[in-house]
Amino acid sequence: MEALPIGFIGAGRVASTLAGMLEAAGENVLGVYSRRQSSSNALIGRCRSVRAYESATQLVENCQLIFVTVPDSMIEAVVEGIGWRTGQFVVHCSAAGELDLLRHAKNCGAEIGGFHPLQIFSDPEVASKHLVGSSVAIEASGALQLQLYRLANLLEMTPLTLRPGARLAYHLAGNFAASSLLALLAEAENLWEECGFVRETALPALLPLSLGTLDSARRLGLAKAVSGPVSRGDSATLVRHLELAAQRPEGDGLYREVLARLITLAESSQRLSAIQLEALRAALTQVKTPDSS
Ligand SMILES: NC(=O)c1ccc[n+]([C@@H]2O[C@H](COP(=O)([O-])OP(=O)(O)OC[C@H]3O[C@@H](n4cnc5c(N)ncnc54)[C@H](OP(=O)(O)O)[C@@H]3O)[C@@H](O)[C@H]2O)c1
Repeated sequence: MEALPIGFIGAGRVASTLAGMLEAAGENVLGVYSRRQSSSNALIGRCRSVRAYESATQLVENCQLIFVTVPDSMIEAVVEGIGWRTGQFVVHCSAAGELDLLRHAKNCGAEIGGFHPLQIFSDPEVASKHLVGSSVAIEASGALQLQLYRLANLLEMTPLTLRPGARLAYHLAGNFAASSLLALLAEAENLWEECGFVRETALPALLPLSLGTLDSARRLGLAKAVSGPVSRGDSATLVRHLELAAQRPEGDGLYREVLARLITLAESSQRLSAIQLEALRAALTQVKTPDSS
């Protein structure tokens, strides 16, 4: 399949990473336009032959596949300010943003699509290492879909077909798998400090435990990776945990919700007897919430 002249509008974290990786993989990354020249220059500094354009219009005149890599809130306005043409491919990299943000390009005759790498981007050097082996959600059809699949394979990423209408749920799934883990770790840090440890020692001590759990989940699946009192059917310890949690300033709502989900997971692993599962669920009702007592 023919390699198309590629351009980026918005020279931020995602553009800098993708432009460098695509160029290194032999793609024709022609140029970049960003609001500030310094941002374009930073991207160019990581590439061999990418050039900066003075306007988005000039860039678009010269490229056939254009990634609109500005912040989500700017995508629609940026796209509306440009005259697109038939034969062009216009793509955003947002997870939550619908393809409708690109409708002006579609109305001009271009094909539109989404290419969302399921990874976090900070420093391009670090991000490019993490991208290899990560998934990328592609929402497109026809020739553009084929092009985006080709690029995903070139970047050694796993392409996923995202069906229309699933974008928000996909984004929420990603959020649960990423930053939501940090909320649980923050609660672990609070308890760590209450044990008398220095807060700064919490992450070094707890993260190996987190990583071990995630590694088990990767190898065995979620249900078989459940450890701790739930996995052993130890309802007496759950009761004691819940009593402690109920005394904490935020109450036991978070722990109770997590436990209910863990018990369901443990049930699907089929390691516990019906009596053990019943005892675990009874622990949840035995200890009253601070509100109901
Ligand atoms: N960051 C992530 O972890 C991540 C992960 C997956 C997907 N994404 C998605 O990727 C897209 C880009 O995100 P990002 O993290 O790369 O954003 P970013 O680092 O904030 O970069 C956005 C860039 O767009 C430029 N820009 C803003 N308004 C512009 C305009 N009107 N015209 C031209 N350039 C403009 C910015 O300008 P300056 O020229 O002023 O610097 C900045 O360099 C978003 O849709 C985001 O949802 C991000």
